Amino acid sequence: MQQRLLGEGLEGRIVIVTGAAGGIGGATAVAAAESGAIVWALDLPGEALESAVAALPGEGHRAVGLDLSDTEAIEPAIRDLVASTDAPLWGLVHAAAYLRRKDYTEVTVADWDIQVDVNIKATFFLNRVVGDLLVEGGIGGRIINFTSVAWMTGALVGSDVYVATKGAVVSMTKGFVKRLGPAGITVNVIAPGQVDTAMQRVDNTDAWMAAAAEGTPLRRMGRPDELASVALFLLSDNASFVSGTTLNVSGGALLY
Ligand SMILES: NC(=O)c1ccc[n+]([C@@H]2O[C@H](COP(=O)([O-])OP(=O)(O)OC[C@H]3O[C@@H](n4cnc5c(N)ncnc54)[C@H](O)[C@@H]3O)[C@@H](O)[C@H]2O)c1
Repeated sequence: MQQRLLGEGLEGRIVIVTGAAGGIGGATAVAAAESGAIVWALDLPGEALESAVAALPGEGHRAVGLDLSDTEAIEPAIRDLVASTDAPLWGLVHAAAYLRRKDYTEVTVADWDIQVDVNIKATFFLNRVVGDLLVEGGIGGRIINFTSVAWMTGALVGSDVYVATKGAVVSMTKGFVKRLGPAGITVNVIAPGQVDTAMQRVDNTDAWMAAAAEGTPLRRMGRPDELASVALFLLSDNASFVSGTTLNVSGGALLY
């Protein structure tokens, strides 16, 4: 059988990566750019996003500064971007998310609202606009959303609301799988275990993180590039018959 590179099929194609100034999104943006994709890197506007894009290998990448809690702005922003280029849109890797850690005795309605906006509503509107544009493009495509293994295991410390939103990502994605499949578009979810990024460190001490990692089969946290390689596979021609899966990438922390 012919050997294929992990990122086969991305050359000259646009891949939108959200959370691109963060750990996993940032590593995925690099991996996609190394495979020849034109990366539209979406994150909160600012220096972190600009420098992440400046560091990408290759040409034509763009920084898309957008606050995803402004859910009304998502669809017009993506449509305007796509209208401004002749390059084909191929994929969305939606890694942006917001975790507000709070003990459940202290959770407020405002805590719910911001996490629902960023993690659920923005996922819906991003998937819808990218899905529609991919159907119009006529070459198929890829959508990859991010949940967490905690969608299945439940909250660890102070993440009840976040985990509920991550469960919603899994169930919502199943609808897109069925809707977009006839146009040759695959839709999948990645479920990371513990990965050493800024989000993992939100209100967790180093000692807590070390102990948690020690309790897993590989005795360590994942690195962002170990999630990026999975996203790259799902984006590529190699994953052409993979759709509707929630891929457990936890180093064996979650067993099912
Ligand atoms: N790190 C882990 O251990 C872990 C575990 C399970 C799931 N995940 C999931 O993996 C994905 C990537 O997380 P990460 O660990 O790289 O986190 P990260 O904190 O390094 O990156 C998240 C990015 O999302 C961006 N973001 C947050 N709110 C936004 C908004 N309103 N608008 C635009 N961008 C916004 C942040 O600016 C940040 O760059 C997330 O969906 C997360 O839920 C991570």
